[in-house]
Amino acid sequence: MSVSSTAEAAFREAYGTGPEGLWAAPGRVNLIGEHTDYNDGFVLPFALPQRTVAAVGPAPDGKWSVCSTLAPEPVTFGVTGPGEVTGWGAYVAGVVWALQDAGYEVPPVRIALDSDVPLGAGVSSSAAMESVVLTALIDLGGLDVPLERRPAIAQRAENVYVGAPTGILDQSASIRCEPGRALFLDCRTYEVEQIPFDLAAEGLAILVINSNAPHQHVDGEYGARRKTCEAAAGILGVTALRDVSVPELPEALERLDDDVMRRRTRHIVTENQRVLDTVTLLRSGRVREIGPLLTASHTSMRDDFEITVAQVDVAVRAALAAGAYGARMTGGGFGGCVLALVDADRAEPTAAAVAAAYEEHGFTAPTSWVAVAGPGATRL
Ligand code: GLA
Repeated sequence: MSVSSTAEAAFREAYGTGPEGLWAAPGRVNLIGEHTDYNDGFVLPFALPQRTVAAVGPAPDGKWSVCSTLAPEPVTFGVTGPGEVTGWGAYVAGVVWALQDAGYEVPPVRIALDSDVPLGAGVSSSAAMESVVLTALIDLGGLDVPLERRPAIAQRAENVYVGAPTGILDQSASIRCEPGRALFLDCRTYEVEQIPFDLAAEGLAILVINSNAPHQHVDGEYGARRKTCEAAAGILGVTALRDVSVPELPEALERLDDDVMRRRTRHIVTENQRVLDTVTLLRSGRVREIGPLLTASHTSMRDDFEITVAQVDVAVRAALAAGAYGARMTGGGFGGCVLALVDADRAEPTAAAVAAAYEEHGFTAPTSWVAVAGPGATRL
């Protein structure tokens, strides 16, 4: 059964009637630009074909209810504020709250969710959930919320209601991506450019490899990276590390006396430049040439930002040894997925090479698939 039919069936089962409509929002992989979003920098994600579907209908009791195929017993809440709904339901309650807090009249609805976005794999299953609920509420309520304002509302749900200090990358990708395009986003101005990203036409593919490494210390480490970057910007007297360019970097590093802070800063400054360089190459159709930028991004995340783990380092090494043009971890880090740019006919052998390397290291087997850039959040 498809994700939409299971979501619809879950709705009928929980609420004893059919939904008014179905909405979908995807997970994402970030081609390049990691941890740059909360430094006012640049990112370049594309939407995965995997998505979260919400079956949604009006709620006669004037409250909000949500269930999912994993948690069939609905969570119900009325007017709500941060801290009130906890667990996975907080991502949904947070969106209702953030929309209300932004001044919108949010229609009370009943929701049933299903998803094939892998959980805990660093491909934004939580942003997919926020984005699908937000889009359904906006459509059903007839709310006039411009597309470019939507990601920040979903981000606020996550930052303030759920309490995770994440940037704007994931929600922007889930809401604003277009099929066959990568989304070049300026995280300071929210300006976007849809970059043509039709790899099949070039005989290429992005292989996504889920390391299946257990996520460890993710929240604390993420927050610590963010604090260090903000402290560095403060010492350098700039609004955010986005304001430091590569030519200015040596002088900036001299003004920071903490080695960890220097390395974190170097990652952000060079990563922003790698995003810009990747976009320049893609704009002129030189897709294979982005490979070294992807690999350099990984090295920077491994050595300077220190957010990789053995499983993702091994996957990158094995993919490169199997002939990938470039490979890097994608997402927040400490596990999650690796992406590799490969000739289309090398996707399978590359996946097999990574699996063999995992076996040699005694790691849990990885899961791999070829990701084609899909659509952003939409009514089905
Ligand atoms: C997580 C966060 C994003 C972003 C990435 C790293 O996915 O939710 O905001 O910071 O990590 O690029």
